[in-house]
Amino acid sequence: MILVTGGAGFIGANFVLDWLALSDEPVVNVDKLTYAGNLENLSSLQGDARHVFVQADIADGTCISQLLSQYRPRAVLNFAAESHVDRSIHGPEDFIQTNIVGTFRLLEAVRAHWGTLPAPEKHAFRFLHVSTDEVYGSLAADEPAFTETHRYEPNSPYSASKAASDHLVRAYHHTYGLPVLTTNCSNNYGPYHFPEKLIPLMIVNALAGKPLPVYGDGMQVRDWLYVKDHCSAIRRVLQAGQTGEVYNIGGFNEKPNIQIVRSVCVLLDELQPRQDGQPYSVQISYVSDRPGHDRRYAIDARKLEQQLGWRPAETFESGIRKTVQWYLEHPDWVAHVQSGAYREWVQKHYAP
Ligand code: NAD
Ligand code: DAU
Repeated sequence: MILVTGGAGFIGANFVLDWLALSDEPVVNVDKLTYAGNLENLSSLQGDARHVFVQADIADGTCISQLLSQYRPRAVLNFAAESHVDRSIHGPEDFIQTNIVGTFRLLEAVRAHWGTLPAPEKHAFRFLHVSTDEVYGSLAADEPAFTETHRYEPNSPYSASKAASDHLVRAYHHTYGLPVLTTNCSNNYGPYHFPEKLIPLMIVNALAGKPLPVYGDGMQVRDWLYVKDHCSAIRRVLQAGQTGEVYNIGGFNEKPNIQIVRSVCVLLDELQPRQDGQPYSVQISYVSDRPGHDRRYAIDARKLEQQLGWRPAETFESGIRKTVQWYLEHPDWVAHVQSGAYREWVQKHYAP
């Protein structure tokens, strides 16, 4: 089996759902259930013996050690993190605690466990760390996309904390020989995305008749990847990646934010037009910029493509249509997230 951390969040939940749709290999899912952890994302796995959920903090070394000896996973995949840049600007403490201290404690527990394994299991074991393109900093308009050897230049407390975690993972390979893999991915979008991030926020605000807040001039560029393509890349790296290596994952899909917001508006105009006949774009509202806002991210994913044969399956056009449709088809999920009712899911469905 595999052990996944942060599997109740956006990418982790998509990963667990896809994993169990494609194989019968069980998953132990360790998640602290912060505001971003939502077990409703995994409601389709209720009663499925292949999914074992454990509410725990990755910084709780004793608990993680006990889970590792109990389940003896062949791999640990670390998705758990504080992930929202704006929150890191308002309050960095949790980012330091989870992304740095948490990753350190997780690495320590994994290292101790790995050291006790018999040779064949030890050889096959993998620790896969899920990271971000934001560790590389911001690109000028004419600079080439980030490769795996780009210097680290994180600009927000979030990206600095992720950069620190990447360095720890690298050091555990270099010093202790721990068989690690690191992936640095660009912006994801798709089902179960918490509506504090750009795309889901625009969809839910548009439908609620609220303003669509675009930071600054809206010309910041991100490289968008459909979440299920990120999951397929992680599966491929786990399967065939070389230990100690870093793999960049991206969508070959750079777009300025305002273009993203306009695409969402156009799709909603088609799929669920406003009752007054006006386009959703009338709700766009330019607001103050994010402090220290990175201007452009772009990932060069050719290493993953050339060495491991991975390519994204979705174009932005197909992925964004699926995403908008998913939100239109899941008004209850949106309502529960907005009201906070999703947090009652644990009590209702997992209480002893
Ligand atoms: P998310 O915020 O949606 O989910 C994070 C999950 O981690 C939540 O379920 C939360 O409860 C859990 N968690 C937080 N602190 C924890 C702790 N101390 N112990 C155990 N669980 C904890 O994040 P996401 O967007 O799904 O991102 C997942 C990973 O992918 C993160 O490491 C993030 O840095 C990385 N990443 C995200 C993107 C993106 O566009 N969302 C892109 C590249 C990389
Ligand atoms: O690049 C990968 C990163 O992408 C991940 O590591 C992070 O976990 C993830 O949150 C995401 O970070 P961003 O800051 O790029 O994502 P966010 O959705 O918050 O913002 C995307 C862009 O849209 C960014 O330039 C800020 C802008 N924005 C965002 C919000 C929430 C707006 O203009 N208005 C908004 O309301």
